[in-house]
Amino acid sequence: MKAIILSGGKGTRLRPLTYSGAKQLVPVANKPILFYCIENIVQAGIHDVGIIISPETGQEIMNAVGDGSRWGITIKYIEQDVPGGLAHAIKTARKFLADSPFVMYLGDNLIGTRIDTFVKEFRSNSPEALILLKEVENPKQFGVADVTKEGKVLRLIEKPEVPPSNLALVGIYIFSTKIHEAIDNIRPSSRGELEITDAIQELINMGCAVESFILDEWWLDTGKKDDMLTANVIVLDELLKAGIDGQVDGKSNILGRVSIGKGSVVKESKIRGPVVIGENVIVENSFIGPYTSIGNDSKIIKSSVEHSVIMDGSELRDIERLEESLIGRNVRIYRNNKMHKALRLMIGDDSVVEV
Ligand code: G1P
Repeated sequence: MKAIILSGGKGTRLRPLTYSGAKQLVPVANKPILFYCIENIVQAGIHDVGIIISPETGQEIMNAVGDGSRWGITIKYIEQDVPGGLAHAIKTARKFLADSPFVMYLGDNLIGTRIDTFVKEFRSNSPEALILLKEVENPKQFGVADVTKEGKVLRLIEKPEVPPSNLALVGIYIFSTKIHEAIDNIRPSSRGELEITDAIQELINMGCAVESFILDEWWLDTGKKDDMLTANVIVLDELLKAGIDGQVDGKSNILGRVSIGKGSVVKESKIRGPVVIGENVIVENSFIGPYTSIGNDSKIIKSSVEHSVIMDGSELRDIERLEESLIGRNVRIYRNNKMHKALRLMIGDDSVVEV
């Protein structure tokens, strides 16, 4: 069994964060989303992984992920020159996939379960496709499945105007080589893409077995700010291991599950977990409340922050209370007490500031 992870796309829904980088590298609990995908694949015993990259962000993905040796696997990079859709990505990876069955994992999807049980299921039942479904409130935004009570998949439709159910297609699929034949039979959709949903529908039309499972665990398609904050909460809740590798002075108070990376210094501050603080971070005279992730090389001085994600190299100074915020890299937020009271902002395109 091989795996491909799709890691291209423009990340329009996560702007401005994605102007300067790939959406799959946006961190959740200080780790890029893409790394959770890789780890889930590795845990399922799959060691032959291809990452589909785009010309725009490919280099950045390669720099961050490397050759796979840190997970003990081999990673190959396959460039998809145009954003032609998920089925087009499989076409692009055909040489890499050769005659192997494979997992296709969308690099911005996070799920609260291991995929190894589904891989085992696929191996023992040998369907031509295994898909995962999840009940959602907004099915129009996804591929949607029409299934019988027994779980037999009748029909799949991509982003339907009138959804036949509230069961969305999760971005993790397992296929046999039959999918290549199905992809050769389909045409681009109205959005001009070769849709994986249409290819699976074609498998059904060809009379092939398509198995489905409904996920009970959480699933996040980390497209938007609120999804990112939710992902941060869930991952800190479920996966964070406490551990203090930095220095904490005697006047500080650490409560609950808190991870502090190497080279970080906490002085006269209160940290209430779950909280992850990266490496070489300075926290001084501050309060860091639950569900906060602070990236490497950041500074939190005389500030209070809770339920937020602050990425690498950013600085908060004299900020009374920051909540439910997603702050990019190398951002500075500070209070200027000297001049008359006013907001003085330099904010990138597509930013949202609530004051
Ligand atoms: C893609 C698929 C869709 C699936 C979703 C899951 O949508 O086309 O069927 O439900 O991923 O994340 P897209 O991200 O291209 O809008």
